[in-house]
Amino acid sequence: MISLNDKVVIITGAGGGLGKVYALEFAKRGAKVIVNDLGGSLNGSGNSNKAADLVVNEIIKNGGKAVANYDNLVTNPEGILKTALDNYGTVDILINNAGILKDSSFKNMNENQFIDVLNVHLNGAFKLTKLCWSIFKEKKFGRIIMTASPAGLYGNFGQTNYSCAKLALVGFGETLAKEGYKYNIKTNIISLLAKSRMTEKVLPSHILDKLSPEKIAPLVLFLSSNECPSNGSIYEVAAGLFAQIKWQRSNGLYLNPSDDNLTPELILENFNQIFNFNGKGTDYPIMLKDYNKVWEITSKLPKVKAKLPNLKSIKDK
Ligand code: NAI
Repeated sequence: MISLNDKVVIITGAGGGLGKVYALEFAKRGAKVIVNDLGGSLNGSGNSNKAADLVVNEIIKNGGKAVANYDNLVTNPEGILKTALDNYGTVDILINNAGILKDSSFKNMNENQFIDVLNVHLNGAFKLTKLCWSIFKEKKFGRIIMTASPAGLYGNFGQTNYSCAKLALVGFGETLAKEGYKYNIKTNIISLLAKSRMTEKVLPSHILDKLSPEKIAPLVLFLSSNECPSNGSIYEVAAGLFAQIKWQRSNGLYLNPSDDNLTPELILENFNQIFNFNGKGTDYPIMLKDYNKVWEITSKLPKVKAKLPNLKSIKDK
């Protein structure tokens, strides 16, 4: 049985949607939960204590431990940590979950829409993670979840702001995983799809019915536990699927690296080779390629000149 007994967990945006379900599930496993939510609308306007209060009341009614915090993650992350320290003396787990949407096609997106979304998802996560980091480091324990999105990994129409923020959280999490490793601070990234006010107007109801947020929570709890073996991984999770996402490098094109040999025409001529994901050189990199080894291979290759490329045949493909 995975226990989260007495672990102190901060969950941002836990007044509704996914965060609320996480809060209830953490509390069921004995965690002390800071339910942060400013109680705003989907686009971040307005505020109310009601959302966080309702979740805390439900947890307490069920015999769990929780305290509400209504601070805006962007303007007062210190207030969120203070609530954890004042009530429970420490923090063990941080679930960066709060988010807003300001969708618009790129043509119509203004700078405020872009910056506001980055502020909540990315800068907010940065600020609160930074505050928790020194505590995690000192106690040699910490678990951090970054909430990414398929929109960040694959792109999505009308969400340049959101997809930038979400993919940035992937890089943020992967780097923290490397920096936190020796302090037993483990950071993982989830890319999910679930029914909430974010999706209820864009997905049909027969699909939404299969996407309850309860199907995401088990992974979040597992990645937050003492037992978590994972660090710096990206998970895709929805409707009962729990999968890992990796970057894939193609077989690649190897050319003699002399400056007078490398031409755009050679790349054009060999473009299919760059795209070849079936060869034996295809791999799943976790770090930069070992460029000394690349040099050993490429520097021994003969110099070549591009034949005049058959532009028509390439265009036809
Ligand atoms: P939601 O809108 O129900 O929950 C987000 C919560 O964050 C709200 O309760 C809101 O009041 C709170 N919040 C917003 N700005 C805040 C701020 N500055 N400070 C404190 N709280 C703030 O949406 P949902 O779906 O539960 O989203 C949770 C996370 O999952 C978000 O990061 C979202 O981008 C992400 N996500 C959701 C997907 C889905 O299918 N529902 C898909 C991919 C990612």
